[in-house]
Amino acid sequence: MQWHEPVLVEEVLSYLAPQPHWTLVDGTAGLGGHSRRLAQLLTDGGRLISIDRDAQSLEIAKSNLADVAGRITFVHSRFSRLRQVLDSLGVEAVNGLLVDCGVSRYQLTSPGRGFSFDSDAVADMRMDQSENTETASDIVNFGSEEEIARILFELGEERRARRVARAIVRARPIRSVHSLADVIESVVARAGRVRGSTKSLQALRIYVNSELDELDALLSSLDKILAPGARVVFITFHSLEDRPVKRWFQSWHKQGRAQVLTKHVVTPGEEEIRRNPAARSAKLRALEWRG
Ligand SMILES: C[S@@+](CC[C@H](N)C(=O)[O-])C[C@H]1O[C@@H](n2cnc3c(N)ncnc32)[C@H](O)[C@@H]1O
Repeated sequence: MQWHEPVLVEEVLSYLAPQPHWTLVDGTAGLGGHSRRLAQLLTDGGRLISIDRDAQSLEIAKSNLADVAGRITFVHSRFSRLRQVLDSLGVEAVNGLLVDCGVSRYQLTSPGRGFSFDSDAVADMRMDQSENTETASDIVNFGSEEEIARILFELGEERRARRVARAIVRARPIRSVHSLADVIESVVARAGRVRGSTKSLQALRIYVNSELDELDALLSSLDKILAPGARVVFITFHSLEDRPVKRWFQSWHKQGRAQVLTKHVVTPGEEEIRRNPAARSAKLRALEWRG
């Protein structure tokens, strides 16, 4: 069974605090780690809608969750389209929403998906390979030096973005993620355990998948999605994701439309990080919707 160790699980359950009859949404089902724990609590007619934009992940989630599948509706879609998804299912409002941003370990390590440093695959990096959109490889091989520099600077906070972009353009054609990482690391040195290409590869992934636009579209539509008393949990992995979540939460709190439940951001404890190092940069924020 393929799996992605879900992060901050107990914290997610305690902030969402689902009642057994609730309608919940897992906006980023992945391989179903959080969905499993949520579905197990929906014992009195409750329903879980598990969404992922990655059809391959969703298929694995379906098989991982076969024993609780009677309580789950799986939907291949993006969370920015949540309102439309709910309309198509005849759901007016939901009582709880979980969003666990980013990519899963399965995606990062799957050969052929083009996410991981050491892959000989083309740098694809699309979470949804059925979409006919630009890949990271298209950008590094055909984008202008200025465009590449802007992506690395704005989405990777890479200070040497211009020099990296110049090196990329000179090294064309770049045929694999492995070669791309080598070119970037010829300019940016490793910082401790973190490889020099980490920020740039992450920036390309965020760009290819419009990750910040996705987040913004979802946050700005929440008032049309949540029932009064609904609980919402976001888990983010870098500051560009955490910032808009924090800003929207604070703004609703000030307007009296919601109560922020996490006065300070919640992070994994030492024991979780030891067990699952991928959790180390996770940040959780939760809120209760008033309406
Ligand atoms: C960190 S993983 C989630 C792991 C999951 N919680 C689990 O326990 O297995 C993030 C997942 O979100 C999906 N994803 C990212 N952005 C998305 C979006 N805008 N809409 C829907 N799914 C998205 C990815 O394809 C990936 O499977």
